[in-house]
Amino acid sequence: RLSFLGTGYLGATYAICFAELGYEVVGFDVDEAKIAKLAGGQVPFHEPGLDELLRANLASGRLRFCTSYEEVADFADVHFICVGTPQRAEGMGADLTFVETSVTRLAARLRRRALIVGKSTVPVGTAEWVEQLVARHADAGLGVEVAWSPEFLQEGFAVEDVLRPNRIVVGVRTEWANAMLYAAHKGVFDLAAAEDREVPLVVTDFATAELVKVAANAFLATKISFINAMAEVCEVAGGDVTQLAKSIGYDPRIGNRFLQAGVGFGGGCLPKDIRAFQARAQELGAGEALRFLHEVDLVNTRRRARVLGLAARLLGRRSGPAGPDLSGTRIAVLGAAFKPNSDDVRDSPALAIAAALAKAGAEVRVYDPQAIENARRVAPQLTYSLSLDGCLAGADLVCVLTEWAEFRNADPQALGALVAGKLVIDGRNCLDEPLWTAAGWTYRGMGR
Ligand code: UGA
Repeated sequence: RLSFLGTGYLGATYAICFAELGYEVVGFDVDEAKIAKLAGGQVPFHEPGLDELLRANLASGRLRFCTSYEEVADFADVHFICVGTPQRAEGMGADLTFVETSVTRLAARLRRRALIVGKSTVPVGTAEWVEQLVARHADAGLGVEVAWSPEFLQEGFAVEDVLRPNRIVVGVRTEWANAMLYAAHKGVFDLAAAEDREVPLVVTDFATAELVKVAANAFLATKISFINAMAEVCEVAGGDVTQLAKSIGYDPRIGNRFLQAGVGFGGGCLPKDIRAFQARAQELGAGEALRFLHEVDLVNTRRRARVLGLAARLLGRRSGPAGPDLSGTRIAVLGAAFKPNSDDVRDSPALAIAAALAKAGAEVRVYDPQAIENARRVAPQLTYSLSLDGCLAGADLVCVLTEWAEFRNADPQALGALVAGKLVIDGRNCLDEPLWTAAGWTYRGMGR
């Protein structure tokens, strides 16, 4: 019997998928509206395949949702902490308020031995601190223990990543905790065995388990910023970063994934994780070791400014010290989500660029197949279209900033008939350049 505390992208997906694997599961959140939606069979965010699994597992009776700590404490043997750890309002560190609240409230209500497992991305040292919280708030006679098991799911592929992870990492102190965590993942191992796969299991200490997660995200962010730095060089040297990426990617030591140059990384994880990692390393006296992550962040944000500059140039506008003046121009922005197949707009490059274009005076209209509702909340000053065609109508310039299939597969000939000017910036290098050029468009990619 498992519980998942915090039913955001992470916890809801885990709760639903672990019910699918055969466990009895309760999902907990303090947000009553969210819990009501989930209990009613509706996933409160866009994640391919998750709605069907939610409904099937509610129907099976293995999955339910609640807002009561008592119910959670009473029900489960293993409790997974899946709450958010956002960037602090002041500074770069992670805000652990939600971890603290959920752990202390749960611990105080436990009446039998249980394992509390952290899944949220946290600064190294948090597991030990959680252990102290538990020691302070749980009944000492129960023998409640703590473990850490980071998750690596990617939005848009979350169901697959949970059911068929490429590794499981657990940080444990005792054999009992190790055995409990093994039991809590047996469904994953059994599914792999049935499909003739293996899921590597790494059993380690707290600090390593916590670090694995941020190290993985720091590596991915670095890989993206590396190729975006190459894009910057290509832009001034007259090279093509897509050819360059392809060519270096053939070397298996480098690999061709996560080498997509464009408007950079965003989302609720990579940007805040590399900042929190630097802040924590600094506290520990190893700040120098991660100084390069500051550069990774800078390369990433420069990509956004690059689109603004390109737009001004294509529209024949001069840039002053305060940036370009785009007043009187109409720009269609395709994409608001931080990546395709997601409705998540947290730290989205697409939305940040749309806002910057509008701030420079352009009349900006944004279209996204899934993220408009979330985008409206974060950037209410922008105008939104409910269709691709409506967004493009009369535009002087089109910026493709999230590589949704709907944009990649759109017919440039037909789109050309809708706009006032056939200018396109391909912020994700996802369009078929020859096709667009043949249809009469002036095409600008990133780093090409
Ligand atoms: C990321 C990691 O990939 C997951 O392994 C991790 O579990 C997750 O964070 C997390 O910490 O929870 P996610 O934020 O869903 O997953 O998104 P990614 O697929 O990693 O993409 C991040 C950003 O990088 C997106 O904005 C994407 O457009 C951008 N990106 C990705 C590029 O600009 N170029 C690439 O080649 C790849």
